[in-house]
Amino acid sequence: MRLIRSVQQMAAFSLSLRRHGKSIGVVPTLGALHEGHLSLIRRAVEENEIVIVTIFVNPLQFGPGEDFARYPRNLRRDLGLIAATKATIAFAPTARSFYPDDFQTTLDVGKLTELWEGRFRPGHFKGVATVVAILFHLTCPTRAYFGQKDYQQVLVIKQMVKDLLLPISIRMLPTVRERDGLALSSRNQYLSPTERHQAAALFQALSVARRQIRSGQRNVARLLATMRAQIRTQSKARVDYVAIVDAQTLRAIPRIRGRVALLAAVWIGRTRLIDNLLVEVS
Ligand code: PAJ
Repeated sequence: MRLIRSVQQMAAFSLSLRRHGKSIGVVPTLGALHEGHLSLIRRAVEENEIVIVTIFVNPLQFGPGEDFARYPRNLRRDLGLIAATKATIAFAPTARSFYPDDFQTTLDVGKLTELWEGRFRPGHFKGVATVVAILFHLTCPTRAYFGQKDYQQVLVIKQMVKDLLLPISIRMLPTVRERDGLALSSRNQYLSPTERHQAAALFQALSVARRQIRSGQRNVARLLATMRAQIRTQSKARVDYVAIVDAQTLRAIPRIRGRVALLAAVWIGRTRLIDNLLVEVS
């Protein structure tokens, strides 16, 4: 496994690999790697000759007052985990080389970015789309791998790739969870033992709603009430949103029909967690 830190070297290397006909799988991350990230890397290793894992805590996608400064960073540990997966390259650019002082250009992916996470984290998806577009340019992926954990992010990236006519296949892989259902996240490290225990309510609320849908409940207002009630049983939980939406447009729907996404964003103490489940009814 080779570590690349320079944007110029990364661009030159990936271009020459593609010119020699190699397939490249790219896994963008913020680092602080866990099993969720590793599941993406392993799949990329299965499907591509070359795998590039990017590690970059992207300042552009954190809002003022968010956790950019304290986001967990441990490059040495991350490199060890990547090396054990047979990925070819770890690309960990410095913020200075990525965004020079006079950096100006950002990408707006439109409608999808105004909903849900976009509403609670203004500018977040602008930061994500911009960094991912630059990473794609620097790494020339054949395929790029993302987790369903951040479902709205996957839809935003797919929209961007489609609109910009990028010849990249976007792969979405299932959310990896702890035994009690809590989705793995680098932010789980912020939770105290009590909060960690209460955080399971997020997945429980989504699961209860999914179960009710599978048993025939089609009324979204009722399902949302159940989800909120489930979360409210935890003293440290505060809901940003729970939503049941069309899985493609992310628009709220009054009744369950076709493929739907159950979305939740919840504060547990001072830590904000998101999760989702996809359900399909005939
Ligand atoms: P990060 O939060 O590090 O996540 C990197 C990738 O891992 C994302 O595609 C995310 O959905 C996926 N992931 C995180 N937790 C997961 C889990 N429990 N199961 C499966 N996949 C999981 O998402 C970002 O970074 C950034 O926004 C990024 C795309 C790198 C742009 O900066």
